[in-house]
Amino acid sequence: MAPTLSLLSISLLFLLIVSPLPSSSQSSPTLNSPETQFQRLIRGFNLSPKHDVNTGRPGAQFPEAGPAMVEWPLKLPVPGNSIQDLGHHAGYYRLPHTKDARYDVAVNWLCSMKNGPFHIANNLSLLWNDFGWDQASNLIYVDQPTGTGFSYSSNDDDIRHNEDGVSNDLYDFLQAFFKQHPQYAKNDFYITGESYAGHYIPAFATRVQKGNKGKEGILVNLKGIAIGNGLTDPGIQYKAYPDFALDMKLIEQSDYNSINELVPPCEQATKLCASNGGDSCASAYGTCNNIFNGILAVTGNINYYDIRKQCEGSLCYDFSNLETFLNQKSVRAALGVGNIEFVSCSSTVYQAMLMDWMRNLEVGIPALLEDGIKVLVYAGEYDLICNWLGNSQWVHAMAWSGQKNFTAAPTVPFVVDGAEKGQLKSHGPLNLLKVHDAGHMVPMDQPKASLEMLKRWTAGKLSVTGSESWLGLM
Ligand SMILES: *[C@@H]1O[C@H](CO)[C@@H](O)[C@H](O)[C@H]1NC(C)=O
Ligand SMILES: *[C@@H]1O[C@H](CO)[C@@H](O)[C@H](O)[C@H]1NC(C)=O
Repeated sequence: MAPTLSLLSISLLFLLIVSPLPSSSQSSPTLNSPETQFQRLIRGFNLSPKHDVNTGRPGAQFPEAGPAMVEWPLKLPVPGNSIQDLGHHAGYYRLPHTKDARYDVAVNWLCSMKNGPFHIANNLSLLWNDFGWDQASNLIYVDQPTGTGFSYSSNDDDIRHNEDGVSNDLYDFLQAFFKQHPQYAKNDFYITGESYAGHYIPAFATRVQKGNKGKEGILVNLKGIAIGNGLTDPGIQYKAYPDFALDMKLIEQSDYNSINELVPPCEQATKLCASNGGDSCASAYGTCNNIFNGILAVTGNINYYDIRKQCEGSLCYDFSNLETFLNQKSVRAALGVGNIEFVSCSSTVYQAMLMDWMRNLEVGIPALLEDGIKVLVYAGEYDLICNWLGNSQWVHAMAWSGQKNFTAAPTVPFVVDGAEKGQLKSHGPLNLLKVHDAGHMVPMDQPKASLEMLKRWTAGKLSVTGSESWLGLM
C-alpha cells in the first residue's frame, strides 16, 4: 500500500459509441446527422435507457439535500470483511457552479473500469480484485459528467456541453474534496482514465494547473496523467482507422482504398471544427464516423473494443451485472442514492457532448509536459475504436521540447514476471506503452500488467532508460 498517492480515475461510463451503417452504404457513404446516427444506435443496440439522464423526473426521490458534501462509510457485504473496515466512503458533493448538480463519488470503483477493488460475480456477490489499483494508491472515482452514473441534477442547465464545463465541475469537486480532507491534499496526485477520458483528462489537468498557478484554491499536487485507449486527437486518430484495420487484416486492400477516400473530407471537417466550433463539430463527427462505419460494414459483428471478439450485448460487452447490482435496493441504500437509477449510458449527455467529440485535446498536453507533469499514453493492441496506432501517431506528432528525442528513443519491452507484456517508448515525462493481449479495457484484460504499469509509473520507474533497468524491476 502506498497511501501517499491519490489517483482520480475518471469515469469510463461515457463509452465511445458509434452506429454501424448498413453494409450497402459502404461504397456510397451517406452523410448522417449525429442525431440520426444516435437514434439508430439506440435502436440498433437496444439501448433505450429507462431514464435518459439523471435529472429531475417527476416522482424521483433524490438523496437528501443539505450540506455541500455528504459522506458516509460504505457498508456492503464482501467475503471476509466489510468495506467499512477499509475506510471506504461513498458520498455526494454538491457542485458550486451549477443550479443543482451533485457528483456521486464511489460507484465506479466497484468495477466499471475493472481496476477497482472488486469484481461483481454472476450471482451479484462482490469479489476482491487481486490487482485493483487500490493496491498502489488511494483512489477517488467520480461518476461524471453530471447526469451519468448516480451523478444527477434536477436542472437541465447543469448538463455540460464541452470540456470547460466538465473540467470546471471536476475542479470544483476536487477543491471541495481537499477542503473536507486536507490530509490528502499534499499527496502526489494523478489523473487516469480511459476512452473518452482522453478528452476529459487533458482538459481537467490543464484546469488544475491553471488553478494552481492562479492560486485559486488548495494547491493540487498534480504529478501525472495517464490515458488508456483514449480519444485525444480525433483528426489523427480517425485517419488511422483504415491503416490499423488493414494492418490487422480486418479489411482487404480494395476495402481500404474505398474507405480511405472518406479520410480527406474528415480532415477538412475536423479543421473546420477546430476553427469554427459549434455545429461544424457536430457535422465533423458525422463525416468522420463514416470512416469507422465503413470499416464496421466490412467486418460485420466485430467487437470494436477487442477485434479478437464478437460484439455481444449492448456496447459489445455485457455490463448488465453492474447495473443489476447497483440498482438493488440494499446497494442503493448503502450508497445513499435514494431511488434514482444508475444511468450507465446517457443519450442526453452523449448528445450534449457531441459538439465536443471532434475537438483536439492534444493541444493542452505540451504545456503539461513542459511543467514536468508525467504523461502516460497506453493502449491495448487489439482495440479498434481507440487503437494504439492512432494514439502512437498523435503522441509522435505532438510538438514539445522533447519531441525529437522522444521520436529517436528506442522501443523497449515492458516486462512483467519475466514475460513481455508490452512495448514502451519514453523520453523525459512522456511514456507511450502498447499493451499486448489486451483490448480497450487494459485493466480487465491484463490486470496484473496494468497494476505493474501504474506502480512503476507513479514511482517514476516505468521509463528508466537502458535495458537493464526494466529487467531490474521485475
Ligand atoms: C457467488 O459466486 C462466487 C463466485 O463464483 C462464489 O465464490 C460465491 O460463493 C457465490 N455466493 C453465493 C452466495 O452463492
Ligand atoms: C536529446 O538528444 C540530443 C541529441 O542526441 C542530446 O544531445 C540531448 O542530450 C538529448 N536531451 C535530453 C534531455 O535527453
